[in-house]
Amino acid sequence: MIDMTVDVELAPHEQRKSKPADILQVSFGTVFTDHMLSMEYSEKIWHPARIHPYRNLELDPSALVLHYGQGIFEGMKAYRRWDKCYLFRPEKNFERFNSSATRMVMPTINRDEALQNLIQLLKIEKDWIPQARGTSLYIRPTMIATESKLGVRPSEEYLYYVILSPVGPYFKSFEPVKIMVADQYVRAAKGGVGAAKTMGNYAASLKAAEKAKEIGYSQVLWLDANENRYIEEVGTMNLFVRFDDELATAPLQGTILPGITRDSVIHMTRDWGFNVSERMISIDEVIEGIESGKVLEIFGAGTAAVIAPVGNLWYKGHAYQVADGGIGELTQKLFDQLTGMQCGQVQDKYGWVTEFS
Ligand code: COI
Repeated sequence: MIDMTVDVELAPHEQRKSKPADILQVSFGTVFTDHMLSMEYSEKIWHPARIHPYRNLELDPSALVLHYGQGIFEGMKAYRRWDKCYLFRPEKNFERFNSSATRMVMPTINRDEALQNLIQLLKIEKDWIPQARGTSLYIRPTMIATESKLGVRPSEEYLYYVILSPVGPYFKSFEPVKIMVADQYVRAAKGGVGAAKTMGNYAASLKAAEKAKEIGYSQVLWLDANENRYIEEVGTMNLFVRFDDELATAPLQGTILPGITRDSVIHMTRDWGFNVSERMISIDEVIEGIESGKVLEIFGAGTAAVIAPVGNLWYKGHAYQVADGGIGELTQKLFDQLTGMQCGQVQDKYGWVTEFS
């Protein structure tokens, strides 16, 4: 790893915030720590990163990101157990950040330096990393186009920044979630930006999410844009369907996010002897499988969501209960193994965990 330290301006003690007494009662991503990291890009180079008190950004109202959405982000988490802190496959997040940057015609960052800078920030904010099982410090690396210009072209100036937010589980408890299959809206088409973690993908998902909420569902499952037939992803997570002994998930064809939790689930379940396939799965196959009992469980996998059991699907005006509507056996095992590994309680035989203190 490159040995570099970042300039630090600490927040005066009297300006530091008090930490939430019970993080499990705090809504996801609403509380932020005292410090953040920033790094600016101009004249074709990245300037030195700085750690400084958390503060508002100063942006020209004509900054390109505000008009044309040239912005990307990542989601990762730091975990803590006593004095030791952990990151889960953080280099993968920075690699994906760089793929998103390339797709959105933005400059890439140095992966190892970004990780080292992040660890320096996390060491300063260590007391903010919650310890209770299921809690973590959510990390949001972000890059935005800051050049002041209304012409449609890639920005020549960017801001990379990292903010931190102590969080509990994304879904309030490890309870099965209800998902509405979108049959009127699409998230991403082939050749589009569905595989990039870019801001517009999330804005584009809001309308269908509203529809889901109206019928008492919390998430949306997207189908492919071409035929409106094959399952893609849930927006906040990738989806896995267990058909008897086969565990299936949608393939990476440029329209879904290449999830790091998705990749970890594939590795672990192959190791446990499952027949794991990355293949096109039609919604009809899923519905028929639910009706015949061939679908044993469905779950989502993502950084924020971790492993989320799916208890119910809504498709074309009908509700379909997945198996007994509860938490599947594999879903529970994956949740236990992943969360255990992430906080140093389960042996990390894959070398996925980066420890710091
Ligand atoms: C994550 O899992 O980190 C995500 O980015 C999903 C988020 C939009 C809540």
